[in-house]
Amino acid sequence: MKKEISRRNFVNATIGAGAGAMILPVTGGFGLQSLSPVNRPLIITSHANETGQKAMAAGWEILKNGGNAVDAVEKAANIIEVDPEDTSVGYGGLPNEDGVVQLDASFMDGKTYSAGAVACLENIKTPASVAKLVMQRTDHVLLVGKGALDFAKAWGFPEENLLTEKARKIWLRWKEEMSPTDDWGAPEHLQNLVKKESYWRDFPGIEHHYGTTNVLAIDSNGDIAGCTTTSGLSFKLNGRVGDSPIIGAGLYVDNEVGAAGATGRGEDVIKSCASYYMIMRMKEGRTPQQACEDALKMIIDRYKKVNPDFYPSEKFVAINKNGELGCATMTGNRNPQMSVMASKGYSRFEGTVVFPGR
Ligand code: GLY
Repeated sequence: MKKEISRRNFVNATIGAGAGAMILPVTGGFGLQSLSPVNRPLIITSHANETGQKAMAAGWEILKNGGNAVDAVEKAANIIEVDPEDTSVGYGGLPNEDGVVQLDASFMDGKTYSAGAVACLENIKTPASVAKLVMQRTDHVLLVGKGALDFAKAWGFPEENLLTEKARKIWLRWKEEMSPTDDWGAPEHLQNLVKKESYWRDFPGIEHHYGTTNVLAIDSNGDIAGCTTTSGLSFKLNGRVGDSPIIGAGLYVDNEVGAAGATGRGEDVIKSCASYYMIMRMKEGRTPQQACEDALKMIIDRYKKVNPDFYPSEKFVAINKNGELGCATMTGNRNPQMSVMASKGYSRFEGTVVFPGR
């Protein structure tokens, strides 16, 4: 216990993470890493699993050799997108209610104040790269559906079936066990948001419902970039777009401040412009950790007036231009984690649960 407290104090004193947040050492493929403060260059992802760790290593290869944050973020995001075992992002993502995988992604470059995004993109494994091209090679910000697919094909992306056997079986099981609490319904049913979230508890084997990943990086020049990529809400209505491709909702990057990204129930994140809100909070002097927590509290504050028992499942991550970190979830029994790679190596940063026990 004593050790725990002194570790927390160390982290808070060195990286200003904010109350309750800490860096965890990790043993495994990358070896035991130190608890040293992180600074730039650095790269983080909300994915704290093995794939997230591999993604960080790939992004770090670019950053450590003086590469730019945009390229590092793209490389790392692609590794998570092509993992067939991950049912929340890219290839292998869970499909919509018709059994079709529709992907959303956004990219933002804090140096040039440019952004690109794709929504409802089918048959392309790496939507982050398509979003990056929208950002760099068009004067638009968001392409959707067939337009996004045509754009990707024009740039030489191969069309591929994204529905893995694993995802197809999960989708079929969902269809077989269809309940009255799906996304179709009378107004009184759709008001019952607590019941709607609890619907997922009927499927304990299905891990990701709004699963998404954020990748944020600062390069050695201090330039910041970010990407958010997802297969979106599993079994969503055909055409549903979440927060991930909406600049200001699922992602925002500002070289003068930092970067922020969201995962979780996109509907709340869109309505609250959560990533932009986190950037604004950091601009006002809040740490990344405080900014993540502030944004989650802001969402609950809004719902207090209409549905006081509703605590949607969001997780927010943020970095500032000094390389300080933040990560927080709305609810849960365990503190959320994110992967971090910096000059001291790989570590998992442990954030906070803002409304534990909900
Ligand atoms: N946050 C991902 C989604 O709601 O689609």
